[in-house]
Amino acid sequence: MRVIPMTMEACLKQLEPADAEELFWLTDVNRAYLRQWLPWLDIVREVKDTAQFIALTIDQHKRRQGTHYGIWYKGRLAGTLGVHSIDWNNRKTSIGYWLGEQFQGKGLMTQAVAAYLDHLVFGEWNLERVAIQAATGNVKSRAIPERLGFQLEGVLRSNEFLYDHFVDHAVYSMLAAEWRGRRSAGMSRSGI
Ligand SMILES: CC(C)(COP(=O)(O)OP(=O)(O)OC[C@H]1O[C@@H](n2cnc3c(N)ncnc32)[C@H](O)[C@@H]1OP(=O)(O)O)[C@@H](O)C(=O)NCCC(=O)NCCS
Repeated sequence: MRVIPMTMEACLKQLEPADAEELFWLTDVNRAYLRQWLPWLDIVREVKDTAQFIALTIDQHKRRQGTHYGIWYKGRLAGTLGVHSIDWNNRKTSIGYWLGEQFQGKGLMTQAVAAYLDHLVFGEWNLERVAIQAATGNVKSRAIPERLGFQLEGVLRSNEFLYDHFVDHAVYSMLAAEWRGRRSAGMSRSGI
């Protein structure tokens, strides 16, 4: 199992079958809050649904199509972060993430995305481009790429159906050279 350090109190650990129960309960207690911006809450009803998701992410990793990590904070699972898939012909991917409501406001996700870009996406995988898409109204999610210096490329109209309505997506990207430049210019891990 791969572990990526973030801070003294937090790290990323590749999701594994043993995480299913804790990940399910984190999802379940945050169901109403997550449902505002994520489309999959209604298909996660039992621990076995989360176990199935983790099995898919392990298979995804084996196929070199990306990895999903749990974000651990003070020994507790706080959320997840992963790539949707990898387009190897064009060396590009996109990232998705969520945190339990009680773990917001500490910079955890900003630090997690920065660590992920460093160690995997632009490091080991040598990708050229990483995108983050968030609903235009999802101010907290949009703040993460903005804090880390991603470039806003535009808006995809009616790009996602969320239960009973469509939302527009803001598209952000970071290129490998830009990220290396930010790092060598001394950007801190938190991106601030
Ligand atoms: C999107 C989401 C992960 C953002 O969570 P978040 O806690 O706001 O993001 P971070 O963990 O990076 O924390 C940033 C906050 O911590 C504060 N902070 C404290 N210490 C910090 C540090 N060292 N570095 C950066 N930010 C810090 C920031 O000021 C910011 O707070 P603010 O919004 O009051 O200004 C979360 O709201 C979520 O999971 N939402 C539901 C699911 C979702 O929308 N997923 C994304 C779909 S595209």
